[in-house]
Amino acid sequence: QNQSIQSLLRSPLETDTPVTVQGWVKSLRQHKDIIFLNINDGSCMSSIQVVAKYGSCPGAASYGSCVRVDGVLTKSSRTEQPVEVKAESVYVYGPCDKVKYPFKTKKRHPPDYLRQFLHLRPRTNMFSSLLRIRSNAKKAICDVLQEMEYCSIDTPILTSNDCEGAGELFQVEPTESSTQERTHGSSEEDSRAGRKEHFFNVPTFLTVSGQLHLEVMISALSKVYTFGPTFRAENSRSRHHLSEFYMLEAEVAFLHNTDQLAEIIESLLKNVTKKLLDSSEEDISWYLQNVAPENHGQVIDNIVNKPFVRMTYSDAVEILTQRNDQFDFKVEWGCDLQKEHERYLVVHCGNVPVVVTDYPAAIKPFYMRANDDGRTVAAMDVLGADVGEICGGSLREERLPILEERLDKMGIKTNYEWYLDLRRFGSSPHGGFGLGFERYLQLLLGIANIKDAIPFPRSTHSCRL
Ligand code: 4AD
Ligand code: MG
Repeated sequence: QNQSIQSLLRSPLETDTPVTVQGWVKSLRQHKDIIFLNINDGSCMSSIQVVAKYGSCPGAASYGSCVRVDGVLTKSSRTEQPVEVKAESVYVYGPCDKVKYPFKTKKRHPPDYLRQFLHLRPRTNMFSSLLRIRSNAKKAICDVLQEMEYCSIDTPILTSNDCEGAGELFQVEPTESSTQERTHGSSEEDSRAGRKEHFFNVPTFLTVSGQLHLEVMISALSKVYTFGPTFRAENSRSRHHLSEFYMLEAEVAFLHNTDQLAEIIESLLKNVTKKLLDSSEEDISWYLQNVAPENHGQVIDNIVNKPFVRMTYSDAVEILTQRNDQFDFKVEWGCDLQKEHERYLVVHCGNVPVVVTDYPAAIKPFYMRANDDGRTVAAMDVLGADVGEICGGSLREERLPILEERLDKMGIKTNYEWYLDLRRFGSSPHGGFGLGFERYLQLLLGIANIKDAIPFPRSTHSCRL
């Protein structure tokens, strides 16, 4: 039988059952004429112990090599594992050059060292564990949302709008060679003039957010979400920004205030985290013990068991201005909150996530719903320990005259006629949010650098592989 190591360890077969184990050698010890190999196939954190007679184990079966072991299951003498494999033969699919292999046995390499080897780092416990947690987190998010009757929508990656209006866009055009091919089909006049048109006739970008497309959908489906890659050309080298990150975005009709929105995101984060603690128990506890900062378990406990703290932006500013002496960037009403301020607020609230609402209109995008005070909008950010903002959302401006006037003033009304149509034909009070998936993983696992929360990080000057 070709079973995963996880399934062999979790539901052990009868002893003496013939088995085949395939994976990579994590460690190897020789005792007289017996060799103990620990083999891992990535199905779980644990390796299975293989006991091989010296003669049946080729010398190439060294640390890091890829092997196949045929043998029988036996009861393990080790207390932490129920079974081990008595090898009849060990076959080496791929040897591993111990000298050149950048990872040393038993050594915990720091994350910035591992980052130099994006193609090899999944083989480390630290990273394979993260990848399994990430996979289960993705499933937990989709499961929880679908249990809550949200419909999954595939929003486009290529789009002609800049949802956030921050101008942090990657523009997309075909390469020269594909353009040449394309001119065969266009008019001769165009070719002679060498006219350079956009592939899609309009400037097109990688999406910064699927929100506007989700707003299209709630007018038909009421509750929708999308989970996919998102792109931002932020020239930032911070440990919380990527050029390509994954975002969960949800949009809900019939929302009337930011409290309702905060309730949705809070229960989502609680339920997803609980589900994940169940499905990734072994990996999360290993991560907390071996990688996360000390006492990080408390942060997880707070997410699951404590009510999130809620405050308005004005309340936050009041708290922060009293501490202005300790900030690099001094706070005053109207300014955008920086990481140092967000972090302070969370510590101030006992490391419980903080929901900040009602930000100044001037620092938020065009789609947010105006509050009656004339200077703030119904925005909502969720801040987490160390990471700061993990989630941003708002009620959306559903009133046609207000939105029309705003877009007109910004000089972008013609691009958004379709968006205004959503308000012309059966507009609903609604809102939504976007949760940065890597930031959520950072928060949960105490990952210092966001580049260690995604398999292949992309950031300024860095797009290897
Ligand atoms: O606050 P943001 O920009 O909000 C939006 O894009 C909304 N349209 C979402 C919505 O309401 N549907 O981004 C949402 C979240 C942030 O809170 C942050 O967690 C994450 O996305 N994020 C990033 N994560 C990694 N790298 C970056 N460069 C990020 N920019 C935003
Ligand atoms: Mg934001």
